[in-house]
Amino acid sequence: MDMKEDKEMIEMHDMTASNLRSAFGGESMAHMRYGVWGAKAQEDGFPNVARLFRAIAYAEEVHASNHFKAMADVPGAFLVASMAGYGLGTASENLEGAIEGETFEISEMYPVYKQTADYQGEKGAARSFHYALSAERIHAAMYQEAKQAVDGGNDIELGDVQICGVCGYTTEGEVPDKCPVCAAAREQFRTFA
Ligand SMILES: [Fe+2]
Ligand SMILES: [Fe+2]
Repeated sequence: MDMKEDKEMIEMHDMTASNLRSAFGGESMAHMRYGVWGAKAQEDGFPNVARLFRAIAYAEEVHASNHFKAMADVPGAFLVASMAGYGLGTASENLEGAIEGETFEISEMYPVYKQTADYQGEKGAARSFHYALSAERIHAAMYQEAKQAVDGGNDIELGDVQICGVCGYTTEGEVPDKCPVCAAAREQFRTFA
């Protein structure tokens, strides 16, 4: 085996590495954006919507961390293009922005990133994208419910929100014995009560 072949075997494919960096950027910004939008929901008198934003902000932090770790062997400085929504409006407008962001991730971004990683045999990246895609579906639904309530002038009814610290899986109510997405033990969950 010559040096070139050897190098190709250990390096991550460029397109998957680039997708991981973009997803890291997008999740990092979503984490911050949900923090800001959560504070606004609190100000506007929707404490449960605020708590939902805080919980999901943590899930996005888990996703960003997973993407970052998946490319641990691809160091360097890169200019990163990431889809990320901007704007600070009313609680309803911010929820609409959150729904749009999550919907883009579940309908286009993560399915394509996951397929690309599968095609390129990048197992770690594929797992990280799969974890994120699974959680974003739930986030979109939770934000949709929240927007309906807020548009009717009400806060949401919301039990404890449980976030898996390994994959970002998000659920309301009791901590599951085992994460249904990544099989992590219940001790790995963080509760937003
Ligand atoms: Fe999300
Ligand atoms: Fe999990």
